[in-house]
Amino acid sequence: MDRDLTPAQIVQWLDRHVIGQDNAKRAVAIALRNRYRRRKASFDIRSEIYPSNLIMMGPTGIGKTEIARRLANLTGAPFVKVEATKYTETGYVGRDVESMVRSLVRHAVNIEAEIAAKEREGQVRDAVNIKLAEALRKTGYDSITSSEIIRMIDKGLLDDTEIELILPEQMAHMEILPLIPGGGFDNPAGENLKKLMQKMVGSRRKRKNLTVKEARERLQDEEMRRLLEGSDHISRGLWLAQEEGIIFIDEIDKIIGFSESKGPEVSRMGVQRDLLPIVEGCTVQTRYGPVNTDHILFIAAGAFHGSSPSDLIPELQGRFPMRVELDPLSEQDLFRILTEPENSLLKQYSALLEADGVKLKLYRKAALEVARVANYLNEETEDIGARRLRPVLSYLLDEQLFGAPDLVQGNVNITGAMASSILLDLADRREDGNYIL
Ligand SMILES: Nc1ncnc2c1ncn2[C@@H]1O[C@H](COP(=O)(O)OP(=O)(O)OP(=O)(O)O)[C@@H](O)[C@H]1O
Ligand SMILES: [Mg+2]
Repeated sequence: MDRDLTPAQIVQWLDRHVIGQDNAKRAVAIALRNRYRRRKASFDIRSEIYPSNLIMMGPTGIGKTEIARRLANLTGAPFVKVEATKYTETGYVGRDVESMVRSLVRHAVNIEAEIAAKEREGQVRDAVNIKLAEALRKTGYDSITSSEIIRMIDKGLLDDTEIELILPEQMAHMEILPLIPGGGFDNPAGENLKKLMQKMVGSRRKRKNLTVKEARERLQDEEMRRLLEGSDHISRGLWLAQEEGIIFIDEIDKIIGFSESKGPEVSRMGVQRDLLPIVEGCTVQTRYGPVNTDHILFIAAGAFHGSSPSDLIPELQGRFPMRVELDPLSEQDLFRILTEPENSLLKQYSALLEADGVKLKLYRKAALEVARVANYLNEETEDIGARRLRPVLSYLLDEQLFGAPDLVQGNVNITGAMASSILLDLADRREDGNYIL
């Protein structure tokens, strides 16, 4: 996690997981780096520089979502990935588009809270030790000095000793509250409700017998919460979301409506219209406070099968000035996707079988054969991109996947010739539906 990666470093990281799609990787890398550049720019020009919102387009199963998934772990920036199809127009039952900004803020506040918590770990430990020592002195450890007791606590020597503590009562009913209409605690109204409940329940305290070990956990939580109350992680989180947040909107092509008719079409157009102010820049109320969306980076993706970004309402198109097209996958790409990425499908299946004591070795020629058949099926039936690899590989390994550990054990080597003879059957049976998605 590094906030200041150069474009080349971003692409290098993506290369470990995503095969090909150089244009998309470049475009994303530039958009990310531009945020860093903006932060470094002088104050007066900074507010004028808007993010290079981007649409990734290309057929199904070729790595659009995969790129987003990998980006999420890459930068320390708050990042959320949402699906456009999850939203409904304001006024209709469902999730409103503003909730994507609220999730982003929640994520950003969590990032800052974690940093703040890390900084306070020592402080918390000291405070908890003092409280534990006090409680221990009341239960018979009154002849030794406090520092001696603390030393013993720290070493874990007293972990099983029982002590008595007065603790706030835990709130058993909090879990059901998010079900209350209005989206639970994510909005300011829900937050107020929660605070009210906490006041009602939280002021009750109870005497409890616990071991030192259990008490330490409870006290740590309490102490950390107390310390974080005075910290500025919330305002930092708001700032972080505002300045560095990234929202990835997947399946954007699914909210294209082709007519002004009733039903889902209307709602889709409505979702597009609701998105406008958010992408353009507006203020959204969150449980932590208002956040401005001017500088949040939006990356959208869609297959645009039978449609194009120009079918989005014009105002929304204008807010995604950058377009990048991803390439369809060749047989060679499929082979590389099967074998090269850090946790490639082949490595995943080997790990699965290894759990049952089968050591799988798939020869290069066999992997090429999987790619060839996958490509053939994509051409002959429906092109589902790299998603085709999984059914083909499962078919090839069916005997081992079913047989391990009862019938198949130890080393299994699959050669090119074996792969072709097994997969020939699959290619022939392509009409029978079982392995054809
Ligand atoms: N270029 C690629 N490199 C590595 N893996 C890939 C690539 N393309 C696809 N995959 C694999 O195929 C799966 C499906 O890809 P992905 O989810 O990115 O499809 P998509 O382009 O978002 O398609 P859709 O438009 O249907 O959402 C991924 O989980 C990934 O494992
Ligand atoms: Mg996708």
